[in-house]
Amino acid sequence: MSLSDLAAARRTHKAFGPEPVPRETLLELLATARFAPTHHLNQPWRFRVLGPETLAALKRVAGEKEAQKLDRAPTLVLATAALTGDLAMDEEDVCATAAAIQLVLLAATERGIATYWRTPQVLRTKTGREAVGIPHGERFLGLLHFGTAERDPSPREREPVERYVEFLP
Ligand SMILES: Cc1cc2nc3c(=O)[nH]c(=O)nc-3n(C[C@H](O)[C@H](O)[C@H](O)COP(=O)(O)O)c2cc1C
Repeated sequence: MSLSDLAAARRTHKAFGPEPVPRETLLELLATARFAPTHHLNQPWRFRVLGPETLAALKRVAGEKEAQKLDRAPTLVLATAALTGDLAMDEEDVCATAAAIQLVLLAATERGIATYWRTPQVLRTKTGREAVGIPHGERFLGLLHFGTAERDPSPREREPVERYVEFLP
């Protein structure tokens, strides 16, 4: 599949089958993060695969409604950016981590694994961060969901390229 086709094939899935993604496969997906552009070679991306105890701890602090949503996918990976406190560098490191996340999602799509980049509010709270062990100085960027697709997402609507590109003189 060409990169354009892969980018188009990546969709946000919200219903997954019960089979978790094997550890070896996850490591292969997460290894693609290394190839994201990163200024000063900071390599700020951090990924934590949630085990059952960590997920249970997060669900305890999340509240009942959110806890149910945390059960949607069999494999959850927390994505954060390790920041330095320098404003310009932090902005670039957040961008680098987002680029790394997209590579991981595309690598999953290439293997037929369904994905969902989610930012639950609980991971923006002190108790949520503590439950999954996000240290001070790391920015939460996403709780990445992986698994087998239970159904196809609805057709996608996006603006044509002419809407957001300008060729300057
Ligand atoms: C930084 C970021 C955070 C997101 N957080 C959520 C979220 O919390 N809940 C959600 O339903 N979708 C979330 N999404 C997914 C978008 O809603 C999704 O990409 C959009 O609906 C377009 O669908 P597509 O991914 O299938 O193209 C997030 C996407 C990004 C890039």
